[in-house]
Amino acid sequence: MSRRTVVVIGATGSQGGPVARELLKSPDLYHVRALTRDPSKPAAQELAELGAEVQAFDLNAGIDALLRAFTNANAVFAMTDFWATRSAQAEAIQGRTIIDAAAQTSTIGHFIWSSLPDPEKVSGGILKNIHHWKSKSLVADYIQQQYPDLWGKTTVVLFPNYFENCLSHPERYLSQTDAQGVYHMYLPHSPSTVMPNGSIRDTGKLVRLILEDGATYFTKTVAFYSEAISEAEKQAMIGKKYGLQTMYHVISPDEHQKKLESQGLSPGIALDYTEQLLMFEKFGNVCGASEFIQAKEIPGLRLQSWAEFLEENDILVNMRAF
Ligand SMILES: NC(=O)c1ccc[n+]([C@@H]2O[C@H](COP(=O)([O-])OP(=O)(O)OC[C@H]3O[C@@H](n4cnc5c(N)ncnc54)[C@H](OP(=O)(O)O)[C@@H]3O)[C@@H](O)[C@H]2O)c1
Repeated sequence: MSRRTVVVIGATGSQGGPVARELLKSPDLYHVRALTRDPSKPAAQELAELGAEVQAFDLNAGIDALLRAFTNANAVFAMTDFWATRSAQAEAIQGRTIIDAAAQTSTIGHFIWSSLPDPEKVSGGILKNIHHWKSKSLVADYIQQQYPDLWGKTTVVLFPNYFENCLSHPERYLSQTDAQGVYHMYLPHSPSTVMPNGSIRDTGKLVRLILEDGATYFTKTVAFYSEAISEAEKQAMIGKKYGLQTMYHVISPDEHQKKLESQGLSPGIALDYTEQLLMFEKFGNVCGASEFIQAKEIPGLRLQSWAEFLEENDILVNMRAF
């Protein structure tokens, strides 16, 4: 295999970082072009030290910036960060601009799009406010509808609920302790409602495998998660590890919405987030549908489980009263 130039959008972040670092392990096979708005930031410097070509780039700078970033690229890992703008419209514009540029770059032989399911399609039109899923799924549709040639070499990856969310946002993802030292979790999920979960650090292994098995994954959607597990079970396993008393409480969607608003989320974002949880409550593990390739079933791909994540990370320090 000749050395391939792989452009990684979001290379300093949770998704792109592991992709860049995994490919940088094989400099004979991959030249990694890591994109960031700020090449001087520590995460970008670290990638440069590992051998990446770090390029300054802003997704909002228009198609010419993307065409420059894609020059001579053989493959692209592309993502958009809804949370940077909290606007689905802005995210969809960024995504479509990426696609327009990729379609104009004839050297690209494999395009990987970080996405989520179409919430209206999978809920039969019931859940209309999961904007950060919708914008990504619209971009996947855009590739298919506008650029059949690019679609022919595209793989869509549906991302999981990151295990790491409990480290980055403990107030939303971990139990809270009361004065008696009992840890409480409040969610609009019955205790048996499962969500697709996984370690975001496994993105590197998965994307490398997709790139290396190329055509097997063209036009396919890969559901990336290691296990479908409930938040109640995750909480119970934390309790068991640390010998804590835990309690799981089912609250109404309205109560959940108000809880998020009290944590500073706008009503629109709190609704987006609450409906995301309701998707799994009402429609089950929508990422487990047979139309998707299940990453956890790909031979030779070992994805971390929640039990292993708990062994590796001491999350007790993140559990407190919020
Ligand atoms: N958390 C979850 O459980 C979960 C699950 C599924 C999907 N997602 C999706 O994951 C996405 C966030 O990805 P992440 O977790 O990797 O976020 P992250 O760790 O915060 O990283 C965001 C990345 O996006 C880049 N970026 C943001 N705005 C940019 C811009 N205007 N131009 C160029 N680069 C830009 C940042 O680069 P610089 O700052 O270096 O420029 C950074 O590398 C969101 O869209 C979210 O919906 C999250």
